Amino acid sequence: MKYKRLRGTQDVVPPDITLWRHVEGVFQDTFDRYGYSVIRTPIIEPTDLFVRAVGEGSDIVTKEMYTFEDRGGRSVTLRPENTASVIRAYLENGLHRRGGVQRLCYTGPMFRYDRPQAGRYRQFHQVGAEAIGSDNPAVDVEMMMLVVEAMRRLGFEGLDLRLNSVGGESSRGPYREVLYDAIRSSSELPGELVERYEGNPMRIFDAKDVDTAFKQKLPLISDHLDAEDAAHFAQVQDLLAGTNIDFTADPYLVRGLDYYTRTVFEVYCGDTGAQSALCGGGRYDALVAECGGPDTPAIGFSAGVERMVAALPSTDVGGVAVLAYVVCESQGASAGALRAASALRALGAVETDLSLRSHKKQIQAGEKSGARFLVIAPTQGGTLEVRDLKRREEFAVAEGELPGRVEERLGD
Ligand code: HAM
Repeated sequence: MKYKRLRGTQDVVPPDITLWRHVEGVFQDTFDRYGYSVIRTPIIEPTDLFVRAVGEGSDIVTKEMYTFEDRGGRSVTLRPENTASVIRAYLENGLHRRGGVQRLCYTGPMFRYDRPQAGRYRQFHQVGAEAIGSDNPAVDVEMMMLVVEAMRRLGFEGLDLRLNSVGGESSRGPYREVLYDAIRSSSELPGELVERYEGNPMRIFDAKDVDTAFKQKLPLISDHLDAEDAAHFAQVQDLLAGTNIDFTADPYLVRGLDYYTRTVFEVYCGDTGAQSALCGGGRYDALVAECGGPDTPAIGFSAGVERMVAALPSTDVGGVAVLAYVVCESQGASAGALRAASALRALGAVETDLSLRSHKKQIQAGEKSGARFLVIAPTQGGTLEVRDLKRREEFAVAEGELPGRVEERLGD
């Protein structure tokens, strides 16, 4: 074979694609029920957008972006996530002038040059949503209700929703100093590690190479929230406690993107391992203004489609139901087979076997396809033979009567 796919990328081939469509379909249906409209943004954006939004010192920006110069000499980047693009599009298309809360959802590929491993790819896919325009804690809770509802509809049980508040800048500014002082004054961390956390010391809670025991000795943001941030977090938890969703306040949850303020959350599912959050999100009340728009609070989340598909409790999700499989035994039967299939497509999905393989093989393939009806197109014109595989009956029918005769058998 001459070519292979790039490391960290995947082909999704049948029948796995059925699971993908199921995951994306359940999320889309849930988005629809919550009043979200789909937004599509380019996969490629000016590099600066992500540097500013996701954060200059974040792992994503420093190590993981697919960045290159286009032929016009501009630095462009394959999107590593979609929140920054949605906010750019929200402002560029004047959605901020529409008032109220703008609810936008999306699905699509993202790109991060990460070390490939189970559940971690260089091209991966997210479904996600953003609610832009309110800092009401009820919006946070509604977002989490949406996420949990979609995941429950996918069959996930025992979901582990972890919640924290990383505070707004007024809480975080002073806290960062306290935290960095604690990191610097410890004799346990080597010098270069200490330096790494100078800009954003909260990243230490996300670091894989720092001991949990060390992290547990550090001051926590939850003890440094100012009155407004603390009240916001308390209201989120109160409202959430009034739903049927269990959650755990996790004071160590910080998330890897710099735009977050106040509420952050991640969802895990029992056996998928602590390493891999199925989804993550949070508030980003300063991002719209940072992108040049008016002061506009917002919250969102994204879920990894690959991780959802891999963790699905049941792979028995059903695909497209095939109504009929049209067998065509010779070149001479082709026109009739095409006409029969076309007429039946008004009623449902129809597969044609135009391979010209033997009668027996075509019938076997038809039976395997899951179709309700096998339709055998005649070589010489005349009547079609129909087998109703459900009722185990056979009948002959003139071409013009085929859809009617099939339709009258449906519904049982
Ligand atoms: P994130 O936590 O970076 O957040 O990604 C969200 C989800 O995408 C993760 O929980 C995971 O399921 C999936 N994911 C991330 N990286 C990979 C990877 N390399 N391979 C496979 N799956 C991956 C965001 O992207 C934010 N934009 C979420 C958000 C929206 N916050 C506010 N609005």
